[in-house]
Amino acid sequence: MQTRTLGTTGPHTSALGLGCMGMSALYGDTDRAESIATIHAALDAGVTLLDTGDFYGMGHNELLINEALRTAPAAAREKALTSVKFGALRTVEGAFNGYDGRPQAVKNFAAYSLQRLGTDHIDVYRIARLDPDVPIEETVGAIAELVEAGHVRHIGLSEVGAETLRRAAAVAPVSDLQIEYSLLSRGIEAEVLPTARELGIGITAYGVLSRGLISGHFSRDRKLAANDFRSFSPRFQGENLDHNLGLVEALRKTAEQKGVSVAQTAIAWVLAQGEDIVPLIGARTRERLAEALGALDVTLDPADLAAIEQAVPAGAAAGDRYPAAAMADLDSER
Ligand SMILES: NC(=O)c1ccc[n+]([C@@H]2O[C@H](COP(=O)([O-])OP(=O)(O)OC[C@H]3O[C@@H](n4cnc5c(N)ncnc54)[C@H](OP(=O)(O)O)[C@@H]3O)[C@@H](O)[C@H]2O)c1
Repeated sequence: MQTRTLGTTGPHTSALGLGCMGMSALYGDTDRAESIATIHAALDAGVTLLDTGDFYGMGHNELLINEALRTAPAAAREKALTSVKFGALRTVEGAFNGYDGRPQAVKNFAAYSLQRLGTDHIDVYRIARLDPDVPIEETVGAIAELVEAGHVRHIGLSEVGAETLRRAAAVAPVSDLQIEYSLLSRGIEAEVLPTARELGIGITAYGVLSRGLISGHFSRDRKLAANDFRSFSPRFQGENLDHNLGLVEALRKTAEQKGVSVAQTAIAWVLAQGEDIVPLIGARTRERLAEALGALDVTLDPADLAAIEQAVPAGAAAGDRYPAAAMADLDSER
């Protein structure tokens, strides 16, 4: 397995991480046995970074990771790194209900996560979205205290903009910023990515397949449950979807010329944007995982990168990456 280091102070990790969110929520039906088998297959292949959030399935995802780690070979379990997001508040019905980054809430969230994960520390801990009512210095300061106490190893951030990155980094070392980055979501290139690089902060990129939209497997006929993120994501609606699937067909031509899949091309493109970027793969099955890991063997030369850029130019996507209410929660989009 190829490896990368998250920022100047972060952990050494596999070059691809496994994002476990879809195993508990947001992408329709889940299959517990296949989810655990997928995590085991990832560990077996040398993936060390497992990304989750305490609010993914409201604890479900952390308990799933707990079970997968408990039943994995000891050597794989010892190498595994947990990256956990907290702070999102939910209703009983599952709606998102704001964020809580107060120091006492941070410590409370961490106590519950450690219990659910069954571990004595969390490797990277981050608030999922900036709490607009709590200065980032206070939230990061609370995580720094958890680091000092040995409960957390590294401080991360999620979906924040350049100014918040600077303020957070002034409080304590930040290992990585988790943020959406893909051929369809290139917003970080203007300011956030250069700032992260200047500050020595790595990137864990999510949505590298744009939630499956640019995986090459998504089609207009795909039936989605009402609670599937994609049934209300702007990029998957009506004319936006037609336009975006047109981009996928252009990308498919480049992929076919290289003899690799569309998903592998899209993941390899993110890998090629810098050694400081670790893409998270949202595979929910062993089959999808195997395809995604194949991206590590894809080398994109300058001619390939130019062909990809021509197929999917920056800013070509139709539709925002989140519905309007969720866009408003993104400090990174201000
Ligand atoms: N910080 C944040 O705000 C934030 C937000 C979202 C996610 N995340 C993290 O990032 C991780 C990845 O995000 P994501 O799941 O949205 O990203 P993604 O990789 O863009 O999308 C994953 C979806 O793509 C489809 N897919 C098709 N072929 C695939 C392949 N070969 N490998 C993997 N997936 C394939 C799958 O859908 P089907 O199974 O339906 O085919 C899968 O559910 C999450 O698990 C989570 O840990 C963080």
